[in-house]
Amino acid sequence: MALHGIGASPTARTLGQVPTPKALVDFMVGLAEAPKGGKVLEPACAHGPFLRAFREAHGTGYRFLGVELDPKALDLPPWAEGVVGDFLLWEPGEAFDLILGNPPYGALGAGARLGLEERKSYRRRFATWWGRYNLYGAFLEQGVRLLKPGGLLVYVVPAGWMVLEEFRKLRAFLAREGGLEVFYLGRAFPGLKVRATVLRFRKGCRGLRLYEAEGETPRLLLEDPLWQGEMVRFPHPEALALEAQGVPLGRLFHLHFAARSPEVKAHPLTRGEPGPGLVPVLTGRNLLPGRVDYETPYSGLYFPKEAVGLLKPFYAVPHLVVGHTRHYRVVAALDEQAYPWREEFHLLPREGVRVRAENLVAYLNSPLVQAYYRGLYREVVPHLTRPMLERLPIPGELL
Ligand SMILES: C[S@@+](CC[C@H](N)C(=O)[O-])C[C@H]1O[C@@H](n2cnc3c(N)ncnc32)[C@H](O)[C@@H]1O
Repeated sequence: MALHGIGASPTARTLGQVPTPKALVDFMVGLAEAPKGGKVLEPACAHGPFLRAFREAHGTGYRFLGVELDPKALDLPPWAEGVVGDFLLWEPGEAFDLILGNPPYGALGAGARLGLEERKSYRRRFATWWGRYNLYGAFLEQGVRLLKPGGLLVYVVPAGWMVLEEFRKLRAFLAREGGLEVFYLGRAFPGLKVRATVLRFRKGCRGLRLYEAEGETPRLLLEDPLWQGEMVRFPHPEALALEAQGVPLGRLFHLHFAARSPEVKAHPLTRGEPGPGLVPVLTGRNLLPGRVDYETPYSGLYFPKEAVGLLKPFYAVPHLVVGHTRHYRVVAALDEQAYPWREEFHLLPREGVRVRAENLVAYLNSPLVQAYYRGLYREVVPHLTRPMLERLPIPGELL
């Protein structure tokens, strides 16, 4: 679903043209409303499935508009006005009562093949832009800006914004600008790995409500009238009880991320072949629950064992390693041999902290911690992020 370059002869796939299942369109239209005579907008509309379903459910007394970048994809019925253009740069000079749809998704930062000029103009334009960001974050900000006071926005977007750091500014922006209801759908797009959420946002209100919507009828899980844009987590009772009793891991350890691949490759001591004094640079595949595989050279890179501290000083001391992308699992082991790494979190105790490493490793890999992690974060993203790891509770008896 990545967007590969506006203007670079886009195809349907590269523009993020993923059809929205009819049941999902109907669910979202059921959450939507607008005053009679109001203005209803579908951004990134293609053939306007949301406008059509809204009119079918709510009747004809509205003004309908759609904006679509790809003139070949724009195919609206005669009762709707179509605009060909980039919704993110669009300045209609009017505000809307209802904005609904399925915006395109795709990382836009370094690596995404978006033209440099588009990237720069988006970055300048959007206050919520952060890090690699994502097209859907910009669609949310632009949608909120185009709403009338009291207006409603209903979008389906990937769930990553709930927890990832690059959406911290977006969460704070949404909390400032209005009231948000989140419907967690899980795998709503057949054949795609993405976990989806429907957002129902009312401009000018306050607070957050989280609903479980993987089943038939949405169930309210959480209500926070004072939400200010913190991570949106599932209120799993056992996981929250564990947090209330333990010490957050971030208070006990400094968390370092491994040297990135380009940094390892560019280092003058890195080699592409084994040799005397060299050891493999380890990757996530070398990290197993409770054990490090020091043998298999998955990275294809080698580094002098005696000089590992030149790559990152913390590699030179035995320390705890915790996996970053392990698809909804916490995986930890002790690197007793102090090897060079290209991935994962590396944990060094803060001053004065004494922990029995073997016990901590066993705890981090235990079913209890897996249940804690899945309980709070489900399958929202396949990563264990730094804030998630920082908050992971360590029971007092392990200290
Ligand atoms: C995920 S699809 C959704 C289409 C439609 N809403 C649906 O549910 O089937 C996204 C659509 O956004 C269009 N698009 C991509 N970038 C856009 C932009 N910056 N402005 C307007 N439309 C865009 C694509 O051409 C595509 O038709």
